[in-house]
Amino acid sequence: MSLLLNRNTFGETENSGNVLSKEEANQLLGKWVPNERLRLHMLQVANLMKSWAAEKEHLDEKDQWRWEMAGLLHDADWDQWPELHCKKIIEELETRKIDPEIIHAIASHGPNHFGVEPETKMDKMLYAFDELSGLIHAYSLMRPGGYEGMELKGVKKRLKEKSFAANVSREEIQDACNRAGVPFEEIIQFIISHQGNVQL
Ligand SMILES: [Fe+2]
Repeated sequence: MSLLLNRNTFGETENSGNVLSKEEANQLLGKWVPNERLRLHMLQVANLMKSWAAEKEHLDEKDQWRWEMAGLLHDADWDQWPELHCKKIIEELETRKIDPEIIHAIASHGPNHFGVEPETKMDKMLYAFDELSGLIHAYSLMRPGGYEGMELKGVKKRLKEKSFAANVSREEIQDACNRAGVPFEEIIQFIISHQGNVQL
């Protein structure tokens, strides 16, 4: 099954700055993603994107929401249309005349799957967070205290175990962090300190 998108431009430049309201985005999520585990993953990545945009990139609230929205919707079609993953949500956002940069971030969140290279910092951070967020959440579920007291060295140890989150490619994690130009320890630490309070 190929998920290649076979194109590199998404949306229209004239729609730059157009976003969904939070209500509209949550409505779409509720309708398209009945699977609670996946919905939690989207909320976690959305929170990481928003927090990174605010704390590390010092972006204003409008841009923070653009980053958050990309995180919130990046896997919106995975649950019900796995064979159309990425394609369906992109087309939906194009129909709704959404900012092309948000659509590009979603389209490039898995360059090895969709064939679209992450270009902007928003693209690159979405790719990196997507790779690591789920893995760190899986680790939190193995720990009696969850995120409480979790340390970087614990995550690094798990990463070295092939059997842990075996479906998450260690090469892709490294590739995503390299592209983002952020040390992978910094991204892991950021996730540890921001992900514990996100709930459905
Ligand atoms: Fe994801």
